[in-house]
Amino acid sequence: MLLSIARLAVLGLRVLSQVSGTILQNGQVKITNYPDTRIINASASSFTTYPANAAEVSYKGRWDSKHVSWWSAPGIKFGYTGQTVAISFGNWTSDGALVAYRIGGLDWMFTNITAGATHLLVSPDTPGSNLTGPINPWTFELRVTNWAYGVQIDSVHVAAGERLVKLPDYGRRIEIIGDSLAQGYSTSYEGLSSWAYGLAAGLGNTEYSITAYSGICAADQDCWGNPRGQVHQWFYTSDTSGRAAAMYGDDPEPWDFGRHPAADIAIINIGTNDQNPHNNVSAAAYIDALSKIIEGVHGNWPDAQVIVMSLWLGFYQSGNTYFSDASQGFVDEIKQMVQWFNSDDYLRNPVIYDGVTKQTTRLKKCSGKPFVHLFNTTGIMQHNDINPAWHPTDVGAIKVASHLQQYIHVKFGWELYATGPEVYHDTTYWNDQVSY
Ligand SMILES: *[C@@H]1O[C@H](CO)[C@@H](O)[C@H](O)[C@H]1NC(C)=O
Ligand SMILES: *[C@@H]1O[C@H](CO)[C@@H](O)[C@H](O)[C@H]1NC(C)=O
Ligand SMILES: *[C@@H]1O[C@H](CO)[C@@H](O)[C@H](O)[C@H]1NC(C)=O
Ligand SMILES: *[C@@H]1O[C@H](CO)[C@@H](O)[C@H](O)[C@H]1NC(C)=O
Ligand SMILES: *[C@@H]1O[C@H](CO)[C@@H](O)[C@H](O)[C@H]1NC(C)=O
Ligand SMILES: *[C@@H]1O[C@H](CO)[C@@H](O)[C@H](O)[C@H]1NC(C)=O
Repeated sequence: MLLSIARLAVLGLRVLSQVSGTILQNGQVKITNYPDTRIINASASSFTTYPANAAEVSYKGRWDSKHVSWWSAPGIKFGYTGQTVAISFGNWTSDGALVAYRIGGLDWMFTNITAGATHLLVSPDTPGSNLTGPINPWTFELRVTNWAYGVQIDSVHVAAGERLVKLPDYGRRIEIIGDSLAQGYSTSYEGLSSWAYGLAAGLGNTEYSITAYSGICAADQDCWGNPRGQVHQWFYTSDTSGRAAAMYGDDPEPWDFGRHPAADIAIINIGTNDQNPHNNVSAAAYIDALSKIIEGVHGNWPDAQVIVMSLWLGFYQSGNTYFSDASQGFVDEIKQMVQWFNSDDYLRNPVIYDGVTKQTTRLKKCSGKPFVHLFNTTGIMQHNDINPAWHPTDVGAIKVASHLQQYIHVKFGWELYATGPEVYHDTTYWNDQVSY
């Protein structure tokens, strides 16, 4: 059963060199002929143009020095004047990648991006583009939905004589570290339907980065075609895709933690691929890798709280009911590891880890306060929240996100600031037969 999860993940990695596929929604084929927003005759004089590295353009999630996006649901955000936003995409864009974009708090819109093309995303014809407030300056946000694909920003255009406006970051920040389960594998909008995105966007007023990739292990070894594990790859800008290998070989750009703000909360959900017998990862190797990931988070972000999620491994029918496979998910090992991180022995001299130099260091000075928490996923999803590709359905993802939101609210006092604008797209299922 678990084999099937990861096998499908591998197919996802290797077969789809061109972006195409069928999206099913409640078992129905979803229409995906999103508007073609390419413009072929754009004249430079009709635009004011900013380069990809303009200070006004904020990059969300992991982007490399060439402004190429990696991992799940990376994005850009900026304020603008006028009623026009166009973006030129570089040749490192995955041709056909589906992006979501929105004005202010209006609903997401979607379009497939062509590598090397300019796309007109906001114009006076775009519904809502003339609404004067309350969000001021007008804001534009774009997110890449396909986890396996990325875009390269070449330049950003507004109408001639108009300008971009730098938006301040929100005051709080989360990081989600994981595999296909966090990354939205086989949900309807992939990254944009994942529980990781739903958690962060659903908290509201929160910056987020989702460093999750399908099939990846915590342990540093090949798992389902991913050459490295998260104990290595999390410290780098790019993910473990063939796209990254084609661009960087085995010499990717380390992620510059010093140049990016620290996360306040890091949520780690990894190990489903480690526990799969196919990958031959021992419990000891798994716990060693997971511990080093936590030590890496602590080393780079000493004030971050770390939430380790227990694994969920699907369900099986037994007789006339269903049970969960959770007992196979390194349950005791994870529990003991979290206890160790909370012990006086550890907290007196915490260990930190650098995944690039592979150096382990003992901190002499530390706060001595526990920072690792265990989030028990048992009981959140049921058997029909898992789809035929062995991953959460959209509904399953929403359940996980909602529970985590309340956990973070209750445990750390984070207010829920998202109080209106759409988080999940295309989830308005309802019964219009209200008077039988
Ligand atoms: C647009 O993206 C969707 C989702 O990835 C995909 O199903 C569809 O085939 C793409 N369309 C084009 C024209 O690339
Ligand atoms: C630009 O191209 C579009 C089709 O892509 C066409 O509809 C429009 O008339 C053209 N505009 C000019 C000014 O040539
Ligand atoms: C894409 O590649 C072509 C051919 O090498 C080049 O002419 C063009 O300037 C490139 N465009 C971008 C946006 O990088
Ligand atoms: C915005 O444009 C729409 C459609 O053209 C128009 O009906 C509406 O009055 C405009 N609203 C404002 C605030 O200008
Ligand atoms: C796992 O171990 C078995 C037995 O040692 C070996 O046959 C198999 O090739 C290994 N698989 C991987 C993915 O390393
Ligand atoms: C999670 O909760 C279930 C049900 O209460 C329990 O059986 C399991 O041991 C818990 N797991 C962990 C890791 O605490």
